[in-house]
Amino acid sequence: MAHSYLMSNSQPLTHLDLLAMKQRGEKIACLTAYDASFSALIDAAKIEVILVGDSLGMVIQGHATTLPVKIEDMIYHTRNVTRACKNAFVIADLPFMTCATVELAAQNAAALIQNGGAKMVKLEGAKLEIINFLVSQGVAVCGHLGLLPQYIHQLGGYKVQGKTVEIAEQLLNDALAIQNAGATMLILECIPADLARQITKQLSIPVIGIGAGGACDGQVLVVYDILGISTGKRPRFSKNFLRDANSIETALKNYVYAVKKGNFPSAAHSF
Ligand code: KIV
Repeated sequence: MAHSYLMSNSQPLTHLDLLAMKQRGEKIACLTAYDASFSALIDAAKIEVILVGDSLGMVIQGHATTLPVKIEDMIYHTRNVTRACKNAFVIADLPFMTCATVELAAQNAAALIQNGGAKMVKLEGAKLEIINFLVSQGVAVCGHLGLLPQYIHQLGGYKVQGKTVEIAEQLLNDALAIQNAGATMLILECIPADLARQITKQLSIPVIGIGAGGACDGQVLVVYDILGISTGKRPRFSKNFLRDANSIETALKNYVYAVKKGNFPSAAHSF
């Protein structure tokens, strides 16, 4: 059966469409984008969600971490992405310390939506009071648990999270609490596939994984990683889809196909 997005008459996707996909067991494909050209290509490949991630601090700006990214950077890149995107649902990250208080979160989420054109904002960690407040003001919120790049100096490195029973339980409880606070999507980054499976099963909102195994409702990767543009060591959870394709368009389509068919991620891309 063709998936609903293909059958629709090109209406921009909403988070309700993504929820319906979870309920039907249809996988959601997501990629990051930071500019108009990639946004248009990703949109044309019928990828449902574009994340303007603060990973731009590393892949666009060349920093070693995401911490230097400013809200102005996020607004600029989000605006470039939304300008070129007709159908995909665009989520923008609230970067480091821009949602440290309810007031800051309100001001910065408003800027990403009003000036950037984002449909949803994403924030790292179980910041329940902030999520609750943003949702009460009409902001659609995506949570983010597991490996949290904004907490890198506390974590001490980009490592798989949730490997002990205690931390796994904490992650499950945090995921439920984020859903109860009103978030309508959750990203799980670099956690064991079995734990991600449990969380995905227990949550009614769509759960998108990156390095979290194949049982999540959808997958997200950094676009530069799937095109082999990134320098340094490719993360284990990622895959270069351009290697077996003759164009960027084909690589993007192959990524969507692999996610939809459950061929990506394989065990080799999971923990
Ligand atoms: O910033 C980002 O691109 C992200 C994804 C890796 C999930 O948060």
